[in-house]
Amino acid sequence: MAKTKTAYVCCECGAEYPRWQGQCSECKSWNTISEIRLVSATQSTRNDRYQGFAGQTQAKVQTLDHIDLADLPRFSSGFRELDRVLGGGIVPGSAILIGGHPGAGKSTLLLQVMCHLAQSMSALYVTGEESLQQVALRAKRLELPRENLKMLAETSVETIGQIALQEKPKIMVIDSIQVMHMADIQSAPGGVSQVRESAAWLTRFAKQHHVAMFMVGHVTKDGSLAGPKVLEHCIDSSILLEGSADSRYRTLRGQKNRFGAINELGVFAMTEQGMKEVNNPSAIFLSRAEQAAPGSVVMVVWEGTRPLLVEIQALVDSSPLANPRRVSVGLEQNRLSMLLAVLHRHGGLQMADQDVFANVVGGVRVTETAADLALLVAMISSFRDQTLDQDLVVFGEVGLSGEIRPVANGQERLHEAQKHGFKRAIIPIANMPKTNPPGMEVIGVKNLADALEAL
Ligand code: TYD
Ligand code: MG
Repeated sequence: MAKTKTAYVCCECGAEYPRWQGQCSECKSWNTISEIRLVSATQSTRNDRYQGFAGQTQAKVQTLDHIDLADLPRFSSGFRELDRVLGGGIVPGSAILIGGHPGAGKSTLLLQVMCHLAQSMSALYVTGEESLQQVALRAKRLELPRENLKMLAETSVETIGQIALQEKPKIMVIDSIQVMHMADIQSAPGGVSQVRESAAWLTRFAKQHHVAMFMVGHVTKDGSLAGPKVLEHCIDSSILLEGSADSRYRTLRGQKNRFGAINELGVFAMTEQGMKEVNNPSAIFLSRAEQAAPGSVVMVVWEGTRPLLVEIQALVDSSPLANPRRVSVGLEQNRLSMLLAVLHRHGGLQMADQDVFANVVGGVRVTETAADLALLVAMISSFRDQTLDQDLVVFGEVGLSGEIRPVANGQERLHEAQKHGFKRAIIPIANMPKTNPPGMEVIGVKNLADALEAL
């Protein structure tokens, strides 16, 4: 009789404990530790044999130089933006977790991908949340080709495995991992142990049978993947579909990728005809007002492997409060405070009695330090109530002593701005190109005083 062991796992950070406790010692969150039942080794081997796994792969030792370096044979999902986030396409036998809030469009996107791929390979879509009719209706409404995609409504991982063995798909979708369950695990579906074991099992299946496996995972309010946080170590890639409910734009971002770079950004729009990829995202984030307004400036952010033009706005207004407000949306709050200190100390601009609001237009999140100079310029513009030229673009990092530091990929950023018709750029002096892009005036600045003068 196989022995079942239990462990206690934090569903926020995945830390394991031998016994239950109220607070996780690792991430300090409360009431996040729950009991999971570990399937003992003998039991899982028996299961695997039952599923026809035994003897499939013989482990052997090789020296590093004997390992086949042939390129990973990727195939396209049909969406260039999705391929880009995955590092150039889907790798056969990889397990990919696609996270997002309910309603973000995960099921829609995957249905479109699967209907497209089913034309050229065996594809199986497992729905555990929606009924087959619901999915079929959606496919019909979106006018997707429906003839070759295999559908299965099932939530038992073992059954899915058996059917997949018969159907031999090259690509599979599990929608969603939170409703999957395994008979061996005695806890409710959606619980940490069910999610963890199901995902581990499906990942193993993907590897052993060379099936590309997409697993849908829902995200909790605070943005972490419920449960699946603990399974990030077993999957190959994790991508996140984000977007606010009041905007039709969705961004797809790589969180983890064993086969490519992370932080790639893909942009989609949710339309009447399903998800459409946006090939020129700069254009949408830049839909600016006709009339220039104080406090608004355009910068070039670098997302993964490409530049993106976004507008940054600041509003500086005298505050009735003893503690004026500092609010930033889409930018880091700490950097805002830091820049205000730099402005005061090195620029002689006193904003201690002012409310300061900063915002990135279009719901984009900017984490780059290259946004510093643009935010600074926007604040100065709003504070002085002076509009900036519509054709001005700004980027650069600001240091604590007021120096303007260079940023990566300066040339490409300038090129992107020039492509979109910007005529003037204020950038770090160390980023100055040897020759200016045609039709563009580029001003290199060394410190805050230079920047104030250039304005
Ligand atoms: P869905 O793919 O079901 O989201 P998820 O699987 O991530 O929970 O998307 C549902 C939302 O998308 C829903 O609010 C309606 C909207 N939608 C459209 O706007 N257009 C469409 O063509 C489709 C299919 C959905
Ligand atoms: Mg869904």
